[in-house]
Amino acid sequence: MSTRKPTLRCIFLFLLTLFLVLSFNFAVADDKDEDGLEELLAVDDEVEQEAEVGGVKLSEAEVLSKAQRIVLELNNENTERVVTGNEFVLVLGYAPWCPRSAELMPHFAEAATSLKELGTPLLMAKLDADRYPKSASFLGVKGFPTLLLFVNGTSQPYSGGFTADDIVIWARKKTGTPVIRISSVAEAEEFLKKYQTFLIGRFDKFEGPDYEEFVSAAKSDNETQFVEVSQVELAQFLYPDIKPTDHFLGIVKSEPERYTAYDGAFTLNKILQFIDYNKFPLVTKLTEMNSIRVYSSPIKLQVLVFANVDDFKNLLDPLQDIARNFKSKIMFLYVDINDENLAKPFLTLYGLEESKNTVVAAFDNGMSSKYLLESEPTRSNIEEFCNKLVQGSLSPYFKSQPIPDNTEASVHVIVGKTFDDEILSSKKDVVLEVFTPWCINCEATSKQVEKLAKHYKGSTNLIFARIDASANEHPKLQVDDYPTLLLYTANDKMDPIKLSTKSSLKELAASISKHLKVKNQVVKDEL
Ligand SMILES: *[C@@H]1O[C@H](CO)[C@@H](O)[C@H](O)[C@H]1NC(C)=O
Ligand SMILES: *[C@@H]1O[C@H](CO)[C@@H](O)[C@H](O)[C@H]1NC(C)=O
Repeated sequence: MSTRKPTLRCIFLFLLTLFLVLSFNFAVADDKDEDGLEELLAVDDEVEQEAEVGGVKLSEAEVLSKAQRIVLELNNENTERVVTGNEFVLVLGYAPWCPRSAELMPHFAEAATSLKELGTPLLMAKLDADRYPKSASFLGVKGFPTLLLFVNGTSQPYSGGFTADDIVIWARKKTGTPVIRISSVAEAEEFLKKYQTFLIGRFDKFEGPDYEEFVSAAKSDNETQFVEVSQVELAQFLYPDIKPTDHFLGIVKSEPERYTAYDGAFTLNKILQFIDYNKFPLVTKLTEMNSIRVYSSPIKLQVLVFANVDDFKNLLDPLQDIARNFKSKIMFLYVDINDENLAKPFLTLYGLEESKNTVVAAFDNGMSSKYLLESEPTRSNIEEFCNKLVQGSLSPYFKSQPIPDNTEASVHVIVGKTFDDEILSSKKDVVLEVFTPWCINCEATSKQVEKLAKHYKGSTNLIFARIDASANEHPKLQVDDYPTLLLYTANDKMDPIKLSTKSSLKELAASISKHLKVKNQVVKDEL
């Protein structure tokens, strides 16, 4: 455990989507801390050591160790034989140094135990892809962790969730048991103990085109358990006010909005769409585990509530009421404001990373716009915010530092809120330095701008200014490189001239004078 190789290959595949989403739209949170990793790996070691221990009362580590033994270890000798000689093999390709692998390992082992108890024909295997690169390349393991399902020797990528239950549901769907059939009250009771969310289908007979579409949907879906019943009385056990039509479909969840009936046609795509729009609870707690699912939802409007656990308790009821009115239109997410990894990247987008108070924000992932509730997060304010979000009448949020006092400043400090007044609608020429606190070359440019400001001190029509782009935004300020020097001439504020930050002071001055003279000339000529 002494060496820690770069995590790049390690996070590939598994959480790639999450990282893409986060780094595309939002600033990425820091890597997992190393302590967490050590802890996880330490648990693994312990598990290995205690493999021999058998007792009446199994500790968590012991249960885990039992599970680990159900997972077959692949190596250069047995890999090919195992995957080609079995109908179904689910392989986990991992690297011992990869934290994401370590996180997944216990879930995988737990799933193996459940699947074994269920008597599935699936073999669960793992390969240390770092130690056996030949086997890894034979299997097609390219990053860590990778999950692949081999069916008669041919692989398909894993596309389910990452908890043990998620793995069990997915594996059964793809290995011959896409639907669980319930034929007795005892089975129904047993089923309800295990599953909080499921899609129920009631059919007079388990045959016919509608039923076939239902089964196809069960196979094609990647995460929701499907269950089928025939007797109405039995079905009522799972879905109390089931309609006694000859077939019925509904989704069940563990929350106030427990039952939702389906009233569409029994076709594969329509059924899948119904699940997509209805599988999330009224308010979903965002976690690292479910973030990929959340972002792949067809519901593109999201309202996020950042709060500590106690504040959220008080908000939950009103939020659920509001969410009920916006079903299928807005996804309501709760983020624990103290969860640095999840909350901070979002809050940074609003300049609120230090906030301890409840923050209500929204995203339109279709438009990549962000919004902020700037009044108190009361029920009626949130409701109005949601109404406007759906109507498209909210103004997008641009972050801004407080308005500074520039009376004494030779270089004016511009913030998001003053960008319009001081740059765009000002009658003066403005040289604007766009910087961020972390950019390496910004300081040198800042010094040059200060010297230029001194040099042009007498010219009342020319202003020097700077804006910290990490803390301020404006729709008209689209800059990706820092530092950037922009010259906004008085008569063309829409088209700033980019000045080279590599130039010497003299060259910059020459360039500014030239542009301003030329422009002034044009103005004169036009007059
Ligand atoms: C795997 O191969 C066996 C033997 O050829 C065959 O009976 C079985 O249907 C195949 N399984 C799948 C899921 O295609
Ligand atoms: C399940 O996952 C596969 C592979 O990623 C994907 O092609 C398929 O569309 C998914 N099914 C549904 C219903 O989203």
